[in-house]
Amino acid sequence: MKIIDGKAVSEELKNSMKQDVLEYKQKFERVPHLAAILVGDNPASKAYVSNKVKSCDQVGFKSSVITLPEDISEDDLISEIEKLNADKDIDGFIVQLPLPKHISEVRVTLAIDHKKDVDGFHPINFGRMAQGLPCYLPATPYGITMLLDRYNIETAGKHVVVVGRSNIVGTPISILLSRKSKIGDATVTLTHSKTKNLHYIVQQADIVIAAIGIPGFVTADMIKDGAVVIDVGINRVEDDQLTSGSKLVGDVDYEGVSKKSSFITPVPGGVGPMTVMGLIMNTFKAAQKTIYS
Ligand SMILES: NC(=O)c1ccc[n+]([C@@H]2O[C@H](COP(=O)([O-])OP(=O)(O)OC[C@H]3O[C@@H](n4cnc5c(N)ncnc54)[C@H](OP(=O)(O)O)[C@@H]3O)[C@@H](O)[C@H]2O)c1
Repeated sequence: MKIIDGKAVSEELKNSMKQDVLEYKQKFERVPHLAAILVGDNPASKAYVSNKVKSCDQVGFKSSVITLPEDISEDDLISEIEKLNADKDIDGFIVQLPLPKHISEVRVTLAIDHKKDVDGFHPINFGRMAQGLPCYLPATPYGITMLLDRYNIETAGKHVVVVGRSNIVGTPISILLSRKSKIGDATVTLTHSKTKNLHYIVQQADIVIAAIGIPGFVTADMIKDGAVVIDVGINRVEDDQLTSGSKLVGDVDYEGVSKKSSFITPVPGGVGPMTVMGLIMNTFKAAQKTIYS
């Protein structure tokens, strides 16, 4: 069994991005600029945003965080988004999810200028992705494809089973891997909470991608010998043995599954760092205007 080390791959990619940013700076006398809107006090969201800021610093991007109160109205949040849409110094921005319950994530996503939508959530980017047109790929699926590429994991003709059909992970990765492309050409089964015989379907997979949000959901008995296992889940669970009282685990029972898989991503240190890398790559494309002028 080989561990797919997302942390190491993201460090390699950051080092090469650092060079690209230096060249960009010489040519344009500015650096790429990523902004993030953070609404409320959710500790996980705060940690994700601070990770993104740290990664921007590491590669030489400028970053800005706009912190807004939990009780901000939807209209006021949209006004903040419109300011960022109009700000010529900002190449791309994200609105950290989840948002407070009174705010519509759909309305917020639609309000972001798709040319600055470096999370790749806007329907224009999503639709272009589905048709194989240049676009900002959603950051997590983008990160997964970079990992598969880096570890030379063949996807053509393979059976991929994706567990979970969210708009940000399960559905887009199933589209990406079934497209006619280098990291693609797979036969993909997209499963969800209404899927019948899920155990049996996962057992048929050459590559399993778990994005459910239930700790340890995918167990060793569901995995074919030699399968590749990509664990997207990030779940905080209690652990009395640790002074912090809790730890992060994935959607895969790592202990059991790693004994049967050929490749597996750990949590933390697998898909997570590559999601940030996807965002960085998209922001660089936005600054270079490679996708939209
Ligand atoms: N590593 C990263 O960078 C990263 C990025 C994003 C998310 N995540 C993590 O990934 C996990 C999933 O997040 P998400 O936003 O993609 O998911 P989500 O929006 O919460 O959706 C969960 C999906 O899992 C399905 N599901 C739930 N219970 C199931 C069951 N018993 N059997 C089969 N499918 C089931 C749901 O089915 P229905 O559609 O039928 O309800 C849904 O499609 C979370 O732990 C999240 O924290 C990690």
